[in-house]
Amino acid sequence: KTIHLTDYTPFGYLVDEVHLTFDLDPSTTRVRSRVRFRPDPAATDRRFFLHGEQLRLIRAAIDGTEIDPEITDEGLTCAVPDAPFTWEAEVEIDPAANTALEGLYLSNGMFCTQCEAEGFRKITFYPDRPDVMATFTVRINSDLPVLLSNGNPVQSGPGFAEWHDPWPKPSYLFALVAGDLVAHRDRFTTLSGREVDLAVWVRPGDEHKCAFAMDSLKKAMKWDEEVYGREYDLDVFNIVAVDDFNMGAMENKGLNIFNSSAVLASPDTATDANFERIEAIIAHEYFHNWTGNRITCRDWFQLCLKEGLTVFRDAQFTADQRGAAVKRISDVIDLRARQFPEDDGPLAHPVRPESYQEINNFYTATVYEKGAEVIGMLKRLVGDRKYYEALDLYFARHDGQACTIEDWLKVFEDVTGRDLTQFKRWYTQAGTPRLKVEENWQDGTYTLTFTQSIKPSAATPDPQPQVIPIAVGLLGPNGDEIRPTEILEMTEARQSFAFAGLAARPVPSILRDFSAPVVLDRDTTNAERAFLLAHDTDPFNRWEAGRMLARETLIDMITRDAAPGADYLDGIRAVVRDDGLDPAYRALMLALPTQSELTGTLHDRGITPDPDAIWRAHETLKLALAQHLQDLLPRLHAEAQVDAPYSPDAEQAGKRALGAAALGLTSRVDGGAMAAEQYARADNMTLQLAALSCLLTAGKGEAELAAFYDQWRHDRLVIDKWFMLQVAHASPDRAVEIARRLTEHPDFNWKNPNRFRALFGALAMNHAGFHRADGAGYALLADWLIRLDPVNPQTAARMCSAFQTWRRYDANRQALIAAQLDRIAAQPDLSRDVTEMISRIRTA
Ligand code: ARG
Ligand code: ZN
Repeated sequence: KTIHLTDYTPFGYLVDEVHLTFDLDPSTTRVRSRVRFRPDPAATDRRFFLHGEQLRLIRAAIDGTEIDPEITDEGLTCAVPDAPFTWEAEVEIDPAANTALEGLYLSNGMFCTQCEAEGFRKITFYPDRPDVMATFTVRINSDLPVLLSNGNPVQSGPGFAEWHDPWPKPSYLFALVAGDLVAHRDRFTTLSGREVDLAVWVRPGDEHKCAFAMDSLKKAMKWDEEVYGREYDLDVFNIVAVDDFNMGAMENKGLNIFNSSAVLASPDTATDANFERIEAIIAHEYFHNWTGNRITCRDWFQLCLKEGLTVFRDAQFTADQRGAAVKRISDVIDLRARQFPEDDGPLAHPVRPESYQEINNFYTATVYEKGAEVIGMLKRLVGDRKYYEALDLYFARHDGQACTIEDWLKVFEDVTGRDLTQFKRWYTQAGTPRLKVEENWQDGTYTLTFTQSIKPSAATPDPQPQVIPIAVGLLGPNGDEIRPTEILEMTEARQSFAFAGLAARPVPSILRDFSAPVVLDRDTTNAERAFLLAHDTDPFNRWEAGRMLARETLIDMITRDAAPGADYLDGIRAVVRDDGLDPAYRALMLALPTQSELTGTLHDRGITPDPDAIWRAHETLKLALAQHLQDLLPRLHAEAQVDAPYSPDAEQAGKRALGAAALGLTSRVDGGAMAAEQYARADNMTLQLAALSCLLTAGKGEAELAAFYDQWRHDRLVIDKWFMLQVAHASPDRAVEIARRLTEHPDFNWKNPNRFRALFGALAMNHAGFHRADGAGYALLADWLIRLDPVNPQTAARMCSAFQTWRRYDANRQALIAAQLDRIAAQPDLSRDVTEMISRIRTA
């Protein structure tokens, strides 16, 4: 069944308040609900339908009179009065049997919930849709020591706790946690003087891994006050770490629930990258309190309203904490790795989709990351001051409402007087715009002509031109900036912009700071790229010049068997030896475009990518780079040594990133000697893991791998890394066999999403390994998707995207993948989640 945006109708009733009582029990939990409904005068449809799935109805009543509603797999209907009434129901649910991790479930003996998007209907009968907002009072009866829900604590005693959330909210923000937990506590005083009790709740034994998350939370609270004028609005803010969780985290009002991988960190068990991710996710969920909770979505098609904006906000936060250039580059790397392939393949959908079968399949890089890019463009177009004015108006006008993208854009139109009709296409059209550049130089005038196009897709068969903010600066022949950055606002399919009064032909720096999520298509020379790599004043484009040089170098190696040229090797050498540059930035300069990214470029140019050839080119170029930089590498590695005690801050992390990059190259010429030495003396996880990765890549490290396992066997999150590492760093001919062997390891608890993803995510990322010519990688993944689907459809469905680029490959590989897709599709009782994913991928 397909749901369409155009079918939206408001629910016929308003909910004034919700009372829930839980009698917790692992396999027979009772949930009693009492809900005050009244007809919504603004709505016309008076059908009374309550969602409900996998519930055993014990009793239902309206205004105290028992009724016998009509129940289907999806919910219930019954006759109701044409006046305010009280709905009561008692249902029985089985949290212990809930392996899908949606609704109320058990994780290591702890009760917890995940309701977004449509999990509340597995807890009780309710209008489980985001535009129905109500205040909730919750009573939890249980002997477990810690009983949490949304809002403020009302009272508690032996065997019970009561919570009240004064802020009206949709059911997807409901949360409950009960277990044997310990708190890491702190306080925060808001701008206007509200005292907030903060707590990070974890299982006993994890207390020492909470400090960083708490610190991140306080920074985020302060930042949102300072930058967006947003204050927290309850007396408590609780965060809970859960081991079994489908996604990263969830912004439930006052009670955020986190995948433990997104909270727990200590220097010896978490890497710098883990710390940075935790800081960003803590901020993301906290920021949802305003962009998501106080103002929520009318329906799930509007998901980007809260997710795009909140990702944009957390990116601003991270840029402020850790440096804007490095954050921007990392985000673009991620966008190209995850969103561009989605937008370029069978799963392409607009930032605001128009139809879906299973909404969980639309928590995508397009909705989140492209959704954030769209907001970045809006900000660039209207300017900072108008952007914050528009946001103030958004919060003032829509607080307490469930909104749409139209509401969002209207705020910007009202504040700026702009017509955003064309801009809205960024929300309604799928596909990454391709921006072709031509240039002309005549009589002191330099003209750039851009042509934009979007490949038609099933979602957008007839794409129209979009508004593209193109940030451009010009460099003079000696490398000086002769025109600072300006934003060219492209609105036509083809459009020219002239720069007059120039003394010499300039070198353009186009799409600075990646001012729009497009593919720039510009015929230029490696010499010019090298010039920009040396001189561009825009740090993003300077990095981009190096990236494009690396890309063209690799493509020449793959398609013409060319040797790596001096433009690239010398250009990178000059940048990485420049001590004036941030080490984190230099580390990014040393990375190559990923192998799967190269398949996109080759495919665009009409060349069928050969995974083995791409892998070989990667290996060859890394070796060439290592040889070319050989005299520098020890110095870079030494420069990255940190004497101070470990801190996950940007400065230390940047040094370690550069050190790791240097170590990676060194391992290609010293047989892993330096890596073995680093492993032996590593006193934090960042150094330990970097060293082990290098050893494995070099085909060494067997002893270290075993020692690592012995050292960390009791730490789930570290053992996830142990699984991931072996598959990620396996050579292509061994990756599948290593992965298969690891599935037999006693610690391969495949029902845990983190563990499943550690292994199979790594396999899918091992490009040449996964795409082995005999199809063994495809078959192994398909076997396990089939096994996982009945247990956890959401996680199985997400992993199907490993197949999304299948049409890029040769006929043999396509046939092998098609056979696996068909085998999955033929499984009896396949979930709606996986069915939708496979059918969309297959019909490409
Ligand atoms: N709203 C959460 C976040 O962005 C994501 C939860 C999505 N969960 C899901 N099962 N679809 O932070
Ligand atoms: Zn979010």
